[in-house]
Amino acid sequence: MLALDNLSKHFGGVRAVDAVDLTFREGEIFGLIGPNGSGKSTTVNLITGLYTPTTGTVMLDGHDLTQMAQHERTAMGVARTFQNIRLFGNLSVAQNLWVAQNGRTQRREHFMSRWFKAGGEHGPEIEDLLRFSRLHTKRDLPASALSFGEMRRLEMARALASNPRIVLLDEPAAGASLEDGQLLAERIRDIRERGVTVLLIEHMMELVMGISDRIAVLNFGRKIAEGTPAEVQANRDVRAAYLGSKHEDEELIHA
Ligand SMILES: Nc1ncnc2c1ncn2[C@@H]1O[C@H](COP(=O)(O)OP(=O)(O)OP(=O)(O)O)[C@@H](O)[C@H]1O
Ligand SMILES: [Mg+2]
Repeated sequence: MLALDNLSKHFGGVRAVDAVDLTFREGEIFGLIGPNGSGKSTTVNLITGLYTPTTGTVMLDGHDLTQMAQHERTAMGVARTFQNIRLFGNLSVAQNLWVAQNGRTQRREHFMSRWFKAGGEHGPEIEDLLRFSRLHTKRDLPASALSFGEMRRLEMARALASNPRIVLLDEPAAGASLEDGQLLAERIRDIRERGVTVLLIEHMMELVMGISDRIAVLNFGRKIAEGTPAEVQANRDVRAAYLGSKHEDEELIHA
């Protein structure tokens, strides 16, 4: 459904992403892994339109997104979470979802007056997302009062609030406990159950190997391997890339 063709992003001499071809199939969980600085977040930023590519195209079901603005891509069905959590800390959990559903481009004051006009009422979709993220008992708390794992769940629910076809999760388990990591795996499977395609960027190897249908590996901006979790784990180039990096997570090597 989503196809990256010859996609590159160069920052001066740094080839953050370098001639990458990737195709994501409808309804799959696709893992994108690689050592620190290998170009994973940059790839997400190219798909969502935060960055303009140096070369290449981003196509969604035959529609060329490459020149589209971020909000246009959101409207086409592309949603994301950020590696560094981005929530409105002063707004409640429910309000954060409401903002996501009603467009992020509005100024805060406009948003607040509309929220109060609506009497703080939110539709069934937000109720559904509150339950989905197991945050229904915390709906009126400010987002800043949530635990780290809860914030990550709210981020994910927020991405779903725009009713996407594909959601790009940039290290959703980063900083979360093992227990949160397990909950996360369930949530990611739930997202797929909803018919939403998932691109998962993750360093927690157990998580990404356990739930991905297919995985691609980046190293210095280039795709060095692609296949099933078993194929990728057995790949010599992948092992070399992880051994050569200072990355802490060496589970891949021992697997
Ligand atoms: N805005 C930018 N300006 C200059 N260089 C950048 C910019 N964004 C990323 N880079 C560089 O591009 C390369 C890829 O970075 P990127 O953030 O995509 O890596 P990553 O795979 O997401 O790493 P991590 O696992 O640490 O999150 C790095 O060398 C990084 O320093
Ligand atoms: Mg990153």
